[in-house]
Parts: sequence; C-alpha cells; structure tokens
Amino acid sequence: MALKRITAAEAARFVKNGDNVGLSGFTPAGTPKAVTHEIGIMARELHEKGQEFQINLFTGASTGDSCDGILSREQAIRFRAPYTTNEDFRAAVNRGDIAYNDVNLSCMAQELRYGFYGKLNIGILEAFDITDDGKIWVTAGVGIAPTVARLADKLIVELNAAHARCAKGLHDIYELTDPPYRREVPIYKPDDRIGKDYIQVDPSKILGVVEVNIRDEARDLTAPNEITLQIAHNVAQFLISDLKRGVIPSTFLPLQSGVGNVANAVLGALGEEPSVPPFQMYTEVIQDSVIDLLRKGHCTFGSASSLSVTLDTLDGIYDDMEFFKGKLVLRPTEISNNPEVVRRLGLIAMNTALEADIYGNVNSTHVGGTRMMNGVGGSADFTRNSFISIFSCPSEVKGGKISAIVPMCTHVDHNEHSVNVIITEQGIADLRGKSPADRAKTIIENCVHPDYKQLMWDYLKVARKGHTSHALDKAFALHKALAEKGDMRLAEF
Ligand code: COA
Repeated sequence: MALKRITAAEAARFVKNGDNVGLSGFTPAGTPKAVTHEIGIMARELHEKGQEFQINLFTGASTGDSCDGILSREQAIRFRAPYTTNEDFRAAVNRGDIAYNDVNLSCMAQELRYGFYGKLNIGILEAFDITDDGKIWVTAGVGIAPTVARLADKLIVELNAAHARCAKGLHDIYELTDPPYRREVPIYKPDDRIGKDYIQVDPSKILGVVEVNIRDEARDLTAPNEITLQIAHNVAQFLISDLKRGVIPSTFLPLQSGVGNVANAVLGALGEEPSVPPFQMYTEVIQDSVIDLLRKGHCTFGSASSLSVTLDTLDGIYDDMEFFKGKLVLRPTEISNNPEVVRRLGLIAMNTALEADIYGNVNSTHVGGTRMMNGVGGSADFTRNSFISIFSCPSEVKGGKISAIVPMCTHVDHNEHSVNVIITEQGIADLRGKSPADRAKTIIENCVHPDYKQLMWDYLKVARKGHTSHALDKAFALHKALAEKGDMRLAEF
C-alpha cells in the first residue's frame, strides 16, 4: 500500500503533551526540520489557549534552530538528551527551564533500548528516499535513527528533496544487540562496512510522509586566526615527533577530531604537513577541512555519523558523489563512537577543552562550573579509549580575562587518568608517564599564558602537599577573581 502523504502541520498534530520523541540526524545534518518547526507553532497555539504541551526529546546530537531553537523559545521541551549547541536552548537550560541530560553520545541509543527513559512514542526521520515496504535512506547524518525507527510506536518521515542527490551506498546501518547477547563490532579498519545502507521499518508504523525541500541549517566556521593556527601547528608537531620516534606506527593511526573552530584548523594544518602520511578518519563528524583533505589525498577515508559541513561543501560532495562514495561512510553514533572500536583501531583523539587544570583534568562543558556550554558530545567516547588523547584550547580567552588553565577545574568531563596531552598556542604538555607533580610543572611551563604563569607557581607554593597537591580554600581563586573583579589575573594567593 502506498504511504500516505501528509503536511508538516498534520504530522505535528500526532505529537501529544508528554510524548517521548526521537529524531534522526547528528548536528543539523540529517535532522528533520519541518515537523519540529510545526510542533513549535502548535505548542505556541496550545500555550496561548492555556493548555499544557511539552515533549521529551531524544536526538543523535545537536540540531538546528528549527528544532532546539523554536522548541526552546516556545517552552515545548520538558526533557532533552544528549548534546546541543543552540543558544536559546542553552539559555533555557541555564535558567533551569529544561531538564537536560548530557549523555555520552555513544550511549544514547542503547539507553533508549535499555528503557531508561520509558517508551518512545514518536520517531521523526529525515530521508532522501523511502519505499512503500518501509526501506528508509536517511540523509547527511544518522545519529540514533535505526534505534528510533525500531523503538518508536509511530513514525513520521520527512522526505527532503534538498538531499535528493545523496547517494545510496553511503550509509552503513548497524544496530547493536544488547547485553547479555552483545557480540563484538566487526570493524577492523575505518572503511569496513558491516550493515545495510538503509533502515528497514514496519511500514504500518508510518503515520505519513511529509515532502519538503529544506537545506541543512549548517553553521559557518570562523576562519582560523593566529591562535588557532598556532595550536594546530603545535598539534601537528606533537604528532610528527611521536611518529618520528616510532610511538605512532609509520603507517600512522586513524584520527578522531572534535567539533568547532580549533578542531577544523587542526585538521587543516595536519594536511599541510608533508611528514604526516595520508591518514584515515574514524570520527563522529566530518567537517569542511576533511573534505578538502580527501580531495587532495591527504586523508584517504572518512568514517563518521554525519557530514556536518557548510552548504557549499555539501553541494560539492553531492556534485562529486561517485568520488566520495568510496571515501566516506555514515554510521549510527553507537558505531562511529563505539568504545570497543575506538580502542581496537588505536585512534588519535583530538578534542577541545573549555578549561584544563594543572593536573590534566579537563572541563569541556560547564563555564564557571555551573553554566552549560554545549555538552560532552562524543569527546568522552573517544578520549577514554584512544591510543593518544589530546586536548587543545587557547591558553586564555575573553581578552586575557580568563585563563583556560586553572588550579582546579570547576567541572570535570575528562579526568587526569584519560588525558594524555594538553596543547595551547603556548606549547605542548605531554602528560604520559608523569606523576601529578610532574604534570603540573609540564602544564605550567608549556601551556599557561605568560600573564598567568606566576599565579600558578604561587598556587603550588600554598598548596597542601600530597600525591596531588591542592589548597582547597584557594583552588578556585581565579574563578572568584573573575566573578568579583572581572579578571582572573587579579587573583591572589
Ligand atoms: N571560560 C569561559 N568561556 C570560555 C572558556 C572558559 N574557560 N573557554 C572558552 N570560552 C568561550 C570562548 O570565549 C567562546 O566564546 P564566544 O562564543 O563568546 O566567543 C566559546 O567559549 C567557544 O570557544 P571557541 O574558542 O570558539 O571554541 P570552539 O568553537 O572550538 O568550541 C567547545 C569549544 C569546548 C565549546 C566545543 O569544542 C565543545 O562543545 N566541546 C564539547 C563536545 C565535544 O568535544 N565534541 C566533540 C567530540 S567528537
């Protein structure tokens, strides 16, 4: 039987107050856009009539304004997991208006399957093709789509003509079985394929197909500046040094790279280094720089959960699909970020910190220990299991008023046991094989901005001696100075 065509507004009406709603996609790539927008409009109308309407939202990662943006502004989200980057969502979370659970991305699908959140009422998937017998080809991002498709009581499919040129064969859809029956994930090289290129669903679950033509809500990256270029150069130098001394095998190891401006610049710089051999990526997002490296042959294969690229770059991929089909694969996040595979492949994990402390603990999520920035994303999936885990960040931000290296992190996402290397534009702190005391010396000497070096040495002088020396009454003196005097440099010990 032919699947029913419905409008986005009609589709939104299927979503009820209190529903658990799951979406396909990872970043705005692959995330449905029309139905979530209409859910926002419906929420506004219901709220104006004094009726309650809030949903619980589950995604692969961040979404665009047509989802997290409008739904936050219309107070239509009660609970949300995992990662997001939307400013209105961030404000609502930090006001305490939305309950946000910042789940490690590799765990989201399995936690839904384990029943941690109750049953999934509705799934909304973005597709570039669908058949009447329930075969669905998702678009530029996969995320938790296979699990949403299987668990949801009912499904809505946004058939997006803007992705009509996306290719069959690009995706590798594979869903894990759950304990006690889970087996190994049979990926031994980044380009191994283990599943089908489509998701099979029971067509009777599909409430309707919404035909749309909407481009991805891609964010433009900021052009690299002097600081990010220096960080990128330092990361490249560190890797070249480990390659030359044989720690990294001569064939090199697959790379994982985090999100954002710094991560994009680092990859660009690696591609420019003649002594770095062509490498493969096993990562969660492919950003613009990787596409450029694939064209030039510096990167030979990219495995990820999404093409989180600018619109021009996405057009370039679709125009050249025959070339890219053999060079890219899009996987569900529980596979792209799978801890077992990450450790087997020996990934070099490169992520970004908001702040790091002098012992190597890293805060990627909470500004000042309380205000959520984005979320942990997949950074912990990779960091904990990688061959080498690197964190980079500028040594200071906000015109020097904030030092990114502090005596004690106000929130810890990645602890000293998993963080191998910290890199700022000032230099490289290699923490491998070092005690806490030696780590502190290395980080202060190599990574701290000159404006803050003496403060850090002063802190160590007043710290109570121990395996990890600290002065608990002074550990947050820099944060206190920022809060009270507007500048961490005014801290005193
Ligand atoms: N205190 C307060 N603000 C800070 C800060 C600190 N210690 N460090 C950075 N910031 C601010 C910057 O000033 C900037 O503010 P602005 O937007 O007002 O200019 C903002 O945080 C973002 O910093 P930026 O230097 O542009 O970094 P980025 O784009 O590389 O993003 C993270 C950095 C940490 C926010 C981002 O990488 C992230 O969300 N990471 C966690 C998830 C993750 O790692 N995912 C990838 C896993 S595969």
